[in-house]
Amino acid sequence: MKRQNQSSVVEFILLGFSNFPELQAQLFGVFLIIYLATLIGNAIIIVLIYVDQRLHIPMYLFLQNLSVVDMSISAVIIPEMLVVFSTEKTSISFVSCFAQMYFVLFFGGTECCLLGAMAYDRFAAICHPLSYPMMMNKSVFMKLVIFSWALGFTLGTVQTSWVSSFPFCGPNEINHISCETPAVLELACSDTYLFEIYAFTGTVLIILVPFLLILLSYTRILLAILKIPSTTGRQKAFSTCASHLTSVTLFYGTANMTYLQPKNGYSPETKKLISLSYSLLTPLLNPLIYSLRNNEMKRAFMKLWRRRIDLQTY
Ligand SMILES: *[C@@H]1O[C@H](CO)[C@@H](O)[C@H](O)[C@H]1NC(C)=O
Repeated sequence: MKRQNQSSVVEFILLGFSNFPELQAQLFGVFLIIYLATLIGNAIIIVLIYVDQRLHIPMYLFLQNLSVVDMSISAVIIPEMLVVFSTEKTSISFVSCFAQMYFVLFFGGTECCLLGAMAYDRFAAICHPLSYPMMMNKSVFMKLVIFSWALGFTLGTVQTSWVSSFPFCGPNEINHISCETPAVLELACSDTYLFEIYAFTGTVLIILVPFLLILLSYTRILLAILKIPSTTGRQKAFSTCASHLTSVTLFYGTANMTYLQPKNGYSPETKKLISLSYSLLTPLLNPLIYSLRNNEMKRAFMKLWRRRIDLQTY
């Protein structure tokens, strides 16, 4: 009886950016465009790599997986946000809220691991070209891909079942853009200390450690690049490296700010902006960062484009 009384909340209310009621229409437009651009950009990458046999090597197959993950994260978060922008008070059922939490953790965890695997792949190819076929063979590649997805699955399952087992007795307003763990945790009416210790440990293992390994591998890559004799080759490799590093830092840095200490002291508005950065901005920018600067991808795109024109003329 007591327990039922405690868990009296049957639905949550997502506030989104309700502090700015006059901006809802503009926000709707901006996020709709971001959503479409993310879907189109990542879909192009998935198709290009799928149809072009020459791109069936680990570097691009990782990228293809990353695009699937990026598309999925946006699909889990943005449509719900659009609903929030277009209605006065958006209630979201208990089940939908935790389903959203599950998928954000699932795809986010997978992304953390995939980005790490991609950095390792580049490190092996650039710093150890002779032993690359051994460091990144078919079996290593498959293990890394499977491990990434399994990690996301485990993270989502453990964390969502734990958080959903807390009693929620009201208030039920989530002052955030989605049902992410820290925002929902604030509404739990029991002691969450043990969970916070778990969250800290988990974040160190899943976000901080891969991030440090990536920084380390890029440092080694940069040192290797400095030894390239031609200036143009060096400049190109350097700018590619710098753009990857920027996107990776943006993603892990902001994810750390959110998940390292779930009950941190940032204001709700700051938390929303931080969350936008890793959950929406990174998926939007990744296709540009990883393929626009890449000649192989451009060549594959042109090839597909020409084939399309050929089909039209015959
Ligand atoms: C990830 O890459 C592997 C290997 O290429 C592929 O078999 C798998 O279908 C990809 N997964 C997704 C979800 O794209």
